Amino acid sequence: MSPTGWLVTGAVVVLVAGLPYWLPRIVVALRVRIFAWVGGEEGVRAPGREVPAEEFKKVYGHPAANGRSRGAALSDLFWYWLSPGPEVHQEHLEPGPRYDDVARTTRQILAGLSREQWTELVGRCTRRVLDELDGHARVHRVRLRDLMMPVWAEVYYEVVFREPCPRHVRDLITGNADDVVSALKCTRLRHMDRRARLTDYLRTRLAHDPPPVPLPSSLTASEQAYYLQGTFFNTAVVQMSEAMAHLLLALATHRPVQERLLAGEEDPDFLDRVINETLQHFPLFGVAHRITSGEISRDGRDPIPTGSVLLFNYPEYQGSGGDRFDPDRWLEPDTRPSAFIPFGVTANRPCPARGFAVLTMRVAAEEVLRRFRLDSSVEHTRSLPSRGPCLLIPRAGAAVRRRSRLVVMRLADRWAAVPRSVTQLVLGSYMVWDARRQGLCRNYFATPAGGATAASATVGR
Ligand code: HEM
Repeated sequence: MSPTGWLVTGAVVVLVAGLPYWLPRIVVALRVRIFAWVGGEEGVRAPGREVPAEEFKKVYGHPAANGRSRGAALSDLFWYWLSPGPEVHQEHLEPGPRYDDVARTTRQILAGLSREQWTELVGRCTRRVLDELDGHARVHRVRLRDLMMPVWAEVYYEVVFREPCPRHVRDLITGNADDVVSALKCTRLRHMDRRARLTDYLRTRLAHDPPPVPLPSSLTASEQAYYLQGTFFNTAVVQMSEAMAHLLLALATHRPVQERLLAGEEDPDFLDRVINETLQHFPLFGVAHRITSGEISRDGRDPIPTGSVLLFNYPEYQGSGGDRFDPDRWLEPDTRPSAFIPFGVTANRPCPARGFAVLTMRVAAEEVLRRFRLDSSVEHTRSLPSRGPCLLIPRAGAAVRRRSRLVVMRLADRWAAVPRSVTQLVLGSYMVWDARRQGLCRNYFATPAGGATAASATVGR
């Protein structure tokens, strides 16, 4: 071969061998550009030039930062991902009597359990799901999000209906939640048939045997099924599974932290600090948006006009990322991160689960750690499209050859990112386009029902 031939061959080899390192990053950057282009919307970024970090919470908590869906092209995309029933999903309802009715019901359902009951319920469901792993003595290779989803499906079914979750209903719930989160991360398209099967179950169930807490009276029977499906069998199940996948993967990739927990010599709050550190590095929300219903005036700056789309960027505000995973920095006021809003801001529709989410994560994590050591060498990113590949190594079993397994896992993870990132680019672009074409939110507010909701939102302000 000529010197030029060798040079070209060498360059091709380097390019191909480096694929997992450069292609996913380029594809992600391209995806962001395509989303912005198809979405066709310039929002006000916070933190950003117009809303610096020191004004982030003030603007987020401003009474005029209260529009939720109407008037933002982005809403069409969220409604598309959260269908069916996005118009009654608590997260996306406009403020007003309907929102109040729905939010009150969510609070009542969640308040039905004491801390002891939450502990017992989550412990029991986690143990049951872990019992299903066949062969107790062997090493399991799992995806942490998939491992955790049935746990939260069982937990939230029992929270709503106050009885144990039948196996076939658990499958309906995980089918629904997995479909929503996979579409959100653009790793798969939506499968509305999977979601419809859960809606059908809920409609029948509510007609014959409704839950003990009365459902919002301002909703029709069909909307009540959508409400439960959206808030409890999608949001609750997805958020808790994602949070747990991050927590367990953080432990799997930071062995010294995990060893401290396994040794059982730490103070009882150590795991809570690990959870905080996890939510600081990997906040579940990327960007939460609001539409301003009035002008927001600021000292020494131009006011933010009515109808602006505010984009609150969690990872940027929290300064997430970085390699240092140090739960101990939460011990002292001067090292504790001050920009930390894992459950949103109190003044503007914070998460209704903020009072017990950490407790339930702790209970589930303790159950997993009672049985297994966790080990993983995969890349840990905020969006975690890999669903968290991890080894569960029985604590009671014999020593295993970790090193070779971890090398293989790392290689497989790197190479899996190549086709996956391209898939995300293609499917994401299609869904952004399709959501815009369907205009679920836009069309809803153009109907008399949507108009009435918007009018009541204005009165409710
Ligand atoms: C660790 C787990 C969780 C985290 C980190 C989390 C985080 C958040 C955040 C940051 C928000 C505010 C978003 C915004 O300002 O637009 C939010 C809202 C919300 N969350 Fe959670 N969440 C978690 C678990 C749950 C669970 C278990 C439920 C169960 C019902 C839930 C239901 C909701 C609802 C309904 C809202 C909308 C609140 C409203 O607009 O009134 N979340 N969550």
